[in-house]
Amino acid sequence: MATAAPAAIQAFTITLIVRRFLPETDEEPRWESFDVEVFSTDRVLDALHKIKWEQDGTLSFRRSCAHGICGSDAMRINGRNRLACKTLIKDLDITEPIYVEAIKGLPLEKDLIVDMEPFFAAYREIKPFLISNSTPEKGKERVQTIANREIFDDTTKCILCAACTTSCPVFWTDGQYFGPAAIVNAHRFIFDSRDDAAKERLEILNDKEGVWRCRTTFNCTDACPRGIQVTQAIAEVKQAVLRGRA
Ligand code: SF4
Ligand code: FES
Repeated sequence: MATAAPAAIQAFTITLIVRRFLPETDEEPRWESFDVEVFSTDRVLDALHKIKWEQDGTLSFRRSCAHGICGSDAMRINGRNRLACKTLIKDLDITEPIYVEAIKGLPLEKDLIVDMEPFFAAYREIKPFLISNSTPEKGKERVQTIANREIFDDTTKCILCAACTTSCPVFWTDGQYFGPAAIVNAHRFIFDSRDDAAKERLEILNDKEGVWRCRTTFNCTDACPRGIQVTQAIAEVKQAVLRGRA
């Protein structure tokens, strides 16, 4: 018996309005509109690729994995920080133009690309690596109970995309603030029972640009593409500054 051919997926045209900045020619950023033919299964990243490959090769943005793992394509899409590779066109209102711009609070380099160095400088300051005063027995691992591992499981999921830090109004006004991502990554080691430098990291974050700058606006939690409870992690670090690691 003949089976019906599957219906072809319909393409349609959307309008993307991208905030452009070409340092060689632009004094100020400007908005530029592009009509792009897409499928509902496409992501914003696919639409940006189509613009770059078919309309304007100068359009610049970062991306690598295209699957929500490398953290390189955080951008503001319709005013919200998201990963372009995880934002499906079908989940946006395509009856209106889709606005795409660089994340805020870091120096703009070109189009959707910002200088990430201040972000990574804050990350490096909290010493994002295991510091232990003991050496495990030869051939043995550093053991940890399931319960102990659970305490910091959420914060191990960070992909350093900067969506949280660049959605934070405190960071926008004071680029010296460590920012949520650095605190999340400090949390990952502060609460690791195998690590011996919690006190040192807590002292670093008990700085005037540290955890106390957080105003609990929850923008960071809303922005995190990994679903990390960022504001809660910051609150746990604040508690640990006051009372020591539990
Ligand atoms: S906590 Fe979430 S939003 Fe912030 S850098 Fe990590 S993955 Fe990105
Ligand atoms: S391209 Fe790697 S997270 Fe989007």
